[in-house]
Amino acid sequence: MREGHQGTGPGAITPDGCAVELYARLPAGAEPDIVASAVPEGARILELGSGVGRMTHPLLERGYRVTAVDESAEMLEHVRGARTLCSPIEDLDLDERFDAVMLASFLIHTGDVGVRRGLLRTCVRHVAEDGCVLIQREGADYHTNLPRERVDPSGFTVRILSADPVGDGVNSVRAEYEFPDAVWTQTFRARPLTRAQFEEALGEAGLAVDRYLTDDGTWVRAVPVRR
Ligand SMILES: C[S@@+](CC[C@H](N)C(=O)[O-])C[C@H]1O[C@@H](n2cnc3c(N)ncnc32)[C@H](O)[C@@H]1O
Repeated sequence: MREGHQGTGPGAITPDGCAVELYARLPAGAEPDIVASAVPEGARILELGSGVGRMTHPLLERGYRVTAVDESAEMLEHVRGARTLCSPIEDLDLDERFDAVMLASFLIHTGDVGVRRGLLRTCVRHVAEDGCVLIQREGADYHTNLPRERVDPSGFTVRILSADPVGDGVNSVRAEYEFPDAVWTQTFRARPLTRAQFEEALGEAGLAVDRYLTDDGTWVRAVPVRR
């Protein structure tokens, strides 16, 4: 388990505290549509931190060719129809370029700046010159207004219970997912990033924002900076 990360509830838990059975239940929601709004039909997508394939499967149905990467073999066992690679994202070096690289699920908010640089280097290493990197970042109020909850129409409630500073600009965040028959919790470290700090991190990696894909600024299409 990664330092500061923890998960409780039924089934296997990944090193970052995610529950495999929980992610197998979560709906994909609007996210595949957001990706489709930014990536041409039939494109080759490298999905980093794919989990069980919650987004992979709807993307395959839309005709994208997806390579799904995750460090958890237990997560990847659920992925169907995509090429899967079990690896830490930071270590991935495929000698291949993709039309789109996805770094979703707020992974860019890792508390460890070295890991964040490694994640972004992997994105840059694998994106085609005319391709894009799609990043999902936290909304502006993610660490405030707590506790808060959202009742999902599919029948579960997600709560962000607390976000407590643990030093160096990093918070320990506690989340809870309550289903009628099971409850999962995840505790993880996250570094809030303002839009300016986010764009600076991209710039340092050789990426620039092409456009924000959603009104809340959480989904971003970035492109490699020509050198
Ligand atoms: C919050 S889950 C989200 C999964 C998927 N993106 C989704 O939206 O359903 C994060 C996933 O990223 C994986 N992960 C986190 N950090 C990773 C890293 N550094 N290298 C590889 N996989 C990582 C975890 O194992 C987990 O499956």
